[in-house]
Amino acid sequence: MCGIVGYLGPKNPKDIIVSGLKKLEYRGYDSAGVAILDQGKTKRVRAQGKLKALEDKLQHEKFDGHIGIGHTRWATHGKPSERNAHPHQVRGINLVHNGIIENYLDIREELLAQGADITSDTDSELVAHLIANEVDQTKDLFKAVENTLDKLRGAFSILVMWEQEPDRLVAFKDGPPLVVGLGEKEVFVASDVQALIQYTKKFVYLEDREVASIKGSDVQFFSANGFPIQKKIVELNWNPEMVEKQGYAHYMLKEIYEQPRAVAAAIEPHVNPETFTVALKNIGFGGQPVQKLEELDSKTDWAKTQEVFKGIERVFIIACGTSNYAGMVGKYLIEQLAKVPVEVDIASEFRYRNPVIPPKTLVLTISQSGETADTLAAIRMAKEMGATTLSICNVRNSTIDREAHGHLYMNSGPEIGVASTKAFTSTMAVLNCLAIAMGRSRGVMNEANEKDLVRSLLAVPSQMEGVLAYDKYFEEAASKLKLFRGFLYMGRGTSYPIAMEGALKLKELAYMHAEGYAAGEMKHGPLALIDERMAIVMVAPTDHLYEKTISNLEEARARGGKVISIGTGDNEKLRSISEYYLAIPQAHWTVSAILTVIPLQLMSYHLASNLGYDVDQPRNLAKSVTVE
Ligand code: F6R
Repeated sequence: MCGIVGYLGPKNPKDIIVSGLKKLEYRGYDSAGVAILDQGKTKRVRAQGKLKALEDKLQHEKFDGHIGIGHTRWATHGKPSERNAHPHQVRGINLVHNGIIENYLDIREELLAQGADITSDTDSELVAHLIANEVDQTKDLFKAVENTLDKLRGAFSILVMWEQEPDRLVAFKDGPPLVVGLGEKEVFVASDVQALIQYTKKFVYLEDREVASIKGSDVQFFSANGFPIQKKIVELNWNPEMVEKQGYAHYMLKEIYEQPRAVAAAIEPHVNPETFTVALKNIGFGGQPVQKLEELDSKTDWAKTQEVFKGIERVFIIACGTSNYAGMVGKYLIEQLAKVPVEVDIASEFRYRNPVIPPKTLVLTISQSGETADTLAAIRMAKEMGATTLSICNVRNSTIDREAHGHLYMNSGPEIGVASTKAFTSTMAVLNCLAIAMGRSRGVMNEANEKDLVRSLLAVPSQMEGVLAYDKYFEEAASKLKLFRGFLYMGRGTSYPIAMEGALKLKELAYMHAEGYAAGEMKHGPLALIDERMAIVMVAPTDHLYEKTISNLEEARARGGKVISIGTGDNEKLRSISEYYLAIPQAHWTVSAILTVIPLQLMSYHLASNLGYDVDQPRNLAKSVTVE
């Protein structure tokens, strides 16, 4: 979950690497470093803590070389410290690494027996030693890396340079993502295109066990066992402004406010606003590589998709964290609208519990980053077991996107705040499209019903604007929350996963204890927690479960709990029993979760930012979880 950047070209590597690392800081932020050629030697500068500490150190540093690598770290082996920061340097070899080397203990022992001078506690430094040993023999960096790969086990990516070959970078991926950016007489390498989008729009995505050998501005690709391979250049249409804060105090706030646009972009390809019908666009079932999706014949593709939907008898939804909560909303939608049984699984559990996947199963994975290690392992396993797989990702061409049989996209644009917001609401919008499409394809939903549901969905972006306009009330409610000892978030139906998501947002941003519960579960244990220092956050939109939710709320209130409620419109009842009542507009149950989560996101945001916490980069977390 670290961030890697490399540059080889005529410009100043320091500026490019530091600006790239800034865009990747979401991947890890406990230390950072660069190694850049200067007067024929690689000068290394590293610092513990956030990137700012490295920037301060680099302020007066000058480098005359044109090659360099940089890294921002999320500690796995070895605590956050300068000595454990990357790049690791061994006899002119400089290496940055993302991921885990599983056999590092054996390698370490072997190196120590050979008398190696190991200066950090990381698994990464050991790889630098192995490559340095090889390069002593081969005098060729590419060959040295190639010879080393066989000795390493795990999921990892590396980028390496060698003082003696000052016009070469070698990159290898087997797990965490790496892309090569192609510019005019310059080449970049990074963990994520966000780091490079201001310099180039042309990218080559490395697949697992592929090596990029960059010499000057010439880039060649090889399989790990040395065979040359042809790679496709992908041109992205993102613009650099999409990854800037644009005047907002934090990326997270910007991303919360972008949600109406993101949801509109998520549904736009699939929904016809004139006929109020859904036809999923270019899913690509049939095994075509994703790069060709845009070239698919939409009509035949849709027919193929409907055929797949007709044939399935079960759906598994697999994801982690916030994406998993979106999946839980998906369960309610798909079971109700398409009448297929759905199981929702946390990816890290699914992959290790020998799941039974019956024939005719669709496995749907949800991942904003498309790189989450457990979700990726789950989709691979499902494929091996014969399931048809479909992914909903935000990052196109990400590993999960590329590996799935079928592809749907959140279309949220880059999400940089570590806490997921717009990807969550966009996913719920895509899941609405998916459930409607399945329901129609399977003949369990009539045309009139489809039209009603599509009308509700199309109304959501402007309803979201309406909710955002009440931000000052959410901020006011947030100002009182710090007085509480703990928080119980509750809801029923699709409001249950929203309660879980609300609690997660509070935990990760404000570091306060919060739990999300199905409201009906309160009397089975959690009621014992309630006293006047426990806040109850009740998600209670006016739907078929409203009356039951209110009964649960009364039970909690009778035990002294203080209530913050989220309901529909001007709800006198909720207002009268709540310390704070936050209103969302009237909406169909299929879309209300997209609205009720907004006050919860904003309350957590305001509380954390008023407490002075780093909202965009909460402690101990990273955005892209590429280790299990
Ligand atoms: C919480 C959050 C995480 C992610 C989880 C999965 O705000 O962002 O819980 O949802 O790490 O990440 P993706 O969706 O990239 O697979």
